[in-house]
Amino acid sequence: MKFYSNIYKANKENLAKASKLIKSGAVIAIPTETVYGLAGNAYRNDSVKKIYALKNRPRNNPLIVHFPSLAAMLREAVINDQLITLAKHFSPGPLTYILPLKKGSKISKLVLNSKKQIACRIPNNKTFLSVLKQSGVPIAAPSANLSNQVSTTRAIDVHKEFGNKLPFILHSKKINIGLESTVISLGSTINILRPGAITAEMISKVLNKRVFEKKHKGDVVAPGQFKKHYSPGIPVYLNKTKAKKDGALLVFGKHKIAKNIFFLSKQSSLQEAASNLYVYLRKAKELGYSSVSITKIPNKGIGKAINDRLIRASR
Ligand code: TXA
Ligand code: MG
Repeated sequence: MKFYSNIYKANKENLAKASKLIKSGAVIAIPTETVYGLAGNAYRNDSVKKIYALKNRPRNNPLIVHFPSLAAMLREAVINDQLITLAKHFSPGPLTYILPLKKGSKISKLVLNSKKQIACRIPNNKTFLSVLKQSGVPIAAPSANLSNQVSTTRAIDVHKEFGNKLPFILHSKKINIGLESTVISLGSTINILRPGAITAEMISKVLNKRVFEKKHKGDVVAPGQFKKHYSPGIPVYLNKTKAKKDGALLVFGKHKIAKNIFFLSKQSSLQEAASNLYVYLRKAKELGYSSVSITKIPNKGIGKAINDRLIRASR
């Protein structure tokens, strides 16, 4: 594989370099188990401002802060029993908790929502965890894509998205999940603000409590409140069996082979489809197809998260 000048292997030397860069205020791209993150020191306003500017992201859309451990998370956020139970089961992993910020926390206020709550996640990725540990600071990281575009799951896609505006992209052989984390708010009711690999059923089972899948109605800025979220830049059509004229077709399951056909999963695995989705949405646009149609995706498990992103992309 050809390496671009700002894509770096995640070896010992480069992990140390990345950690120094983060600590000193630079914004770089680091893989997680879900998607690539556009990462900066969460204690520094200048880092967080750089992230918003690079993504062209509205300032009222808060950022997830990543921690190396529950202990580190608890230094900045107010916890409760539900969180401890969930973290035991799902962290490190693709689950993000919205919690009140702890008094005296030095986290940049620019990452918070209007209720001064912080979104916290412990990613399950060796590269990201290594930078978290070595830098010694919590890392603010939205998905590494321009605002309203689909997330990135490969170093090369991050490179194409930001060009040389990013000094440093850590390479990842394979991102296993391919869709952004589940975002939940914990309180008297538990709400899923964004579906992901950790499903409502999984959370409900662990807490022995009802979990609401509706979008949060309050003034919390929930993912997807911004209309054109997750757009690949060409029209997206759902539940189709054929491509439009000059369009591509993403297929879940079996299909005849053709140049404009991309297989999300020949074996009808929802996990595999999730991990291929953003790669193929980006590829369809890059290869010059005028639209992308997608066959029906079962609405269960991580399929719900796939359909959530596709519905937004198709608007
Ligand atoms: O898998 C992921 O979550 C990836 C990786 C890099 O960790 N990150 C990610 O970040 O998807 P982002 O910024 O693209 O999406 C996070 C979503 C945003 O849409 C934001 O609205 C919501 O989480 N969010 C962040 N902080 C929040 C807060 N304090 N309250 C409510 N929602 C929040
Ligand atoms: Mg995003």
